[in-house]
Amino acid sequence: MNIRYELLDPSKQMKPYEKAPAFGVGRTSHMFVAEFDDGEWHDARIVPYGPLPIMPGAICLHYGQTLFEGAKAFNHPDGELYLWRFEMNAERVNKSADVICMQNIPVELQVEGCMRLLDVDRYMTPNQPESSMYIRPFMIGTQDSLGIKSSNKYTYVIMLSPAGPYYADGFNKATTLLISSKYHRAVHGGTGNSKTGGNYAASLRPYYYAHEQGADQVLYLDASNEYIEEAGGMNHYHVLKDGTFIIPAFNDSILHSITSRTVMELAAMGKVKARQERIRVKDFIADIKNGNIIEAGALGTAAVISPNGTYIFDDGTPPITVADGKVGKYSRQLYELYSGMQTGKIPAPEGWSKKVEHYKK
Ligand SMILES: Cc1ncc(COP(=O)(O)O)c(C=O)c1O
Repeated sequence: MNIRYELLDPSKQMKPYEKAPAFGVGRTSHMFVAEFDDGEWHDARIVPYGPLPIMPGAICLHYGQTLFEGAKAFNHPDGELYLWRFEMNAERVNKSADVICMQNIPVELQVEGCMRLLDVDRYMTPNQPESSMYIRPFMIGTQDSLGIKSSNKYTYVIMLSPAGPYYADGFNKATTLLISSKYHRAVHGGTGNSKTGGNYAASLRPYYYAHEQGADQVLYLDASNEYIEEAGGMNHYHVLKDGTFIIPAFNDSILHSITSRTVMELAAMGKVKARQERIRVKDFIADIKNGNIIEAGALGTAAVISPNGTYIFDDGTPPITVADGKVGKYSRQLYELYSGMQTGKIPAPEGWSKKVEHYKK
């Protein structure tokens, strides 16, 4: 599909940030938009970043037919901008869409839209070490209809957000997670394995509850309170004494994290030791206490790795600390390998980083 350009005059475009903003705050001059109705995607365009026209009766506003993604692009030492594994995000858009009965959108259109948008606004990519251009695709059901049904019109958008290093003071602070049976993120047969907005609205109350209890996030258990599922908006991991990363086996109540999948691919290449399995929370706690588990934390695009030093409880159980409660060497090594590949300092397997072309506009 032809992608139309409707660009701001250079004198009206945003100035690059002097210092890259904190995660989520930055914006760029343009966005990519495509519309679906009458059974086809059309009017793909790159336009100035601004409000979307939407009817008050749009289905997304009432019944939550929305989904989103999160990806990143990085300036490499060769001066070019590289997009990290975006096809996986584009494919996951369609997996999420299937879960909440939304329209699929061709992966090629998403990738080309993203590449062309990045090309237009590449001048705003931050250059500080480990900073990135965060990419936020999303899709909303826009049919003006109050019946509870799947929309027959959709808007797909990609917006960009220049972001400074996730760990402004370096990769040094281990977080605290709350283990609780009070709230659950997702259930078997539900929507947990999709990036639909409703999952994140439902995570706010447990998030604030975790804060009240003195934790940074919730370690979500499955609905039977037996197995570990996710750490807030990230997958969970722990590390055994021999350096093996253990990530909960994917199911339909765990988001299939691209970071975790990449770690598993690195494991298949022999670059790290990792496997996925169902993890009983009882065994996990016992293995922290007896020293079999020496590190733990969470995996996801925003931070790559967020090590966790302490687990607290809301039922009177005393807190437990993983080894000395500090960031461990295996987590640090994985972070350095992963972020090194993303930023072009360490060679990445073929196809993981794609150079953003300089298109003719
Ligand atoms: C619930 C949840 N789990 C895990 C992740 C990590 O996924 P990824 O590595 O694809 O960013 C995310 C972030 O997208 C998430 O929202």
